[in-house]
Amino acid sequence: MNEARIREHRSESVEQTLHVGRTIAREITMGDLVLIDGDLGAGKTTLTRGIADGLGIDPDQVSSPTYTICREHELEDGCSMIHVDAWRIESSEDLDSIGWDEFAGSKNTIVVVEWAKRLNLPSDSPRMQVDLEHIGEQGRLIRVSLPRS
Ligand SMILES: Nc1ncnc2c1ncn2[C@@H]1O[C@H](COP(=O)(O)OP(=O)(O)OP(=O)(O)O)[C@@H](O)[C@H]1O
Ligand SMILES: [Mg+2]
Repeated sequence: MNEARIREHRSESVEQTLHVGRTIAREITMGDLVLIDGDLGAGKTTLTRGIADGLGIDPDQVSSPTYTICREHELEDGCSMIHVDAWRIESSEDLDSIGWDEFAGSKNTIVVVEWAKRLNLPSDSPRMQVDLEHIGEQGRLIRVSLPRS
């Protein structure tokens, strides 16, 4: 049984959520997929900014891609972080239109997906899953599931 290892963080501020993102950045490598879920305003984009920062991308370049489903942030050596906001994805044609199959299998990209549940990916596909939950105004519970290595 290939059970995931689960770790929990408690964040009380934007800065602490960014910090969790930077921690995640140290645990991932090119070719990895990071799936993020959580309610509106739970901190998915903030966490993505922290991941970007940890990878060496200016976190100010990372925003909620409201009208674009996906944005690419370049790294060194032809590598990149691809930030997908799946909120607007309604069909597999939408996934095709952003070139999902090409970048999701690429060894030169890290793919980070907000609203990942909307993609309905097979649950056994290797990925890091992050779930954010509101605990009051500023509090967030951040649950990180790492695939067993
Ligand atoms: N501990 C915290 N961590 C992250 N964000 C926090 C925290 N406390 C308060 N906030 C606020 O919550 C909001 C989180 O916004 P963010 O865009 O990261 O969420 P999101 O989950 O991406 O939202 P959306 O569902 O619209 O994509 C920001 O306004 C931020 O200032
Ligand atoms: Mg967002």
